[in-house]
Amino acid sequence: MIQIALLGFGVVGSGTAEVLTENKALIEERLGCEYNIRYILDLRDFPNSPFGSLVTHDFNDILNDPEVTVVAEMMGGSHPAYDFTKKCLEAGKSVVTSNKEVVSTFGVELCELARKHGVRYLFEASVGGGIPVIRPMINDLSSNRIHKISGILNGTTNYILTSMRDLGASFSDALSEAQKLGYAEANPSADVDGIDAARKIVILAALACGKLADPKTIPTEGITAITLTDTKVAGAFGYSMKLIGHACVAEDGKLTAFVSPRMVPAANPLSRIDGVFNGILVDANMVGEVMFYGPGAGKLPTASAVVADIIDVIANREAESKPILWEAATADDMAEFSEYSCRRMFIVKNASVADSLPSAEVREVEGVYGILTESMSEKDTAEAAARMGDALLSVYRVL
Ligand code: HSE
Repeated sequence: MIQIALLGFGVVGSGTAEVLTENKALIEERLGCEYNIRYILDLRDFPNSPFGSLVTHDFNDILNDPEVTVVAEMMGGSHPAYDFTKKCLEAGKSVVTSNKEVVSTFGVELCELARKHGVRYLFEASVGGGIPVIRPMINDLSSNRIHKISGILNGTTNYILTSMRDLGASFSDALSEAQKLGYAEANPSADVDGIDAARKIVILAALACGKLADPKTIPTEGITAITLTDTKVAGAFGYSMKLIGHACVAEDGKLTAFVSPRMVPAANPLSRIDGVFNGILVDANMVGEVMFYGPGAGKLPTASAVVADIIDVIANREAESKPILWEAATADDMAEFSEYSCRRMFIVKNASVADSLPSAEVREVEGVYGILTESMSEKDTAEAAARMGDALLSVYRVL
């Protein structure tokens, strides 16, 4: 009998207990062995939950129980989640997690620790909620060189942007709804300021190039400055406004990674991904472009991915699995961001200020002008924006 411990009994933790229980017979049949949830670590008690009797407040109960071989960490935040993960790996217990903050910050060390102790550290649920993306990128794309990843990586912000566009909902009402539905982080700034998407894009970029960038150092912009006018300008050009995590690996191996709102042309499938759904486009040199799509947040979808990792650990407990080994990206590994080029959308009060832009198309929307340009570098865009002064309302990257 495999003994499992769950760290955290919030949205994802309780969902994981539910999936492990509801689908127990099916999973055990597939695994050919039985499992049991022995402990659930949480600060709170859950007297009304069917899992209430499994709750412990003492992490040492789990750490010191040699029969617990698989631990699912779903606490959120860096501490004590990182510290507990480290102790479990050092004690020879495999750890699976939905915690993108821990994976993106301490992934290099924790993957190495897992290798050293002959156990697994898996994090399918850390990116894209219920979407299978980490394991397919590691396994099924392993014959490819991955050049580029563009993704809608945050369910909360996509839900907010969709509700604003389709229902005319206010930003704060849409955010409250996302919180009620269990999509948002404990501190929703992580969602709306792009921090959560930054954590996710560095994880995906590390799968592509083996270098884990510090998510705090990549350019990151959220959705709080997007106005209704901006979304109308996007619509007038047939574009959708999306929060996009983007990573590309140049021929020389240099990595560019950033998060920002982008106007996505209708021809790009990411433009049609709405609500809590996430979509991740991966451009690889042999297969071409593939897309991963599905629910990017929420209790049972995220739990489904956590349980997939638990099953992977149990199914392969006697096999020697290939470890995930990353290095920390240094400044030398990163491309010069000021040289990043793409088309831009300037939104201005007065179309004449855009005379010097390599403009492709101009449209008037309710008294303002959207000016779509040819490809421009970050440096040229910033200089052009500075020249426009007060006439500039906003400028967006186009995907
Ligand atoms: N707050 C995150 C999101 C949860 O909205 O995508 C899933 O990682």
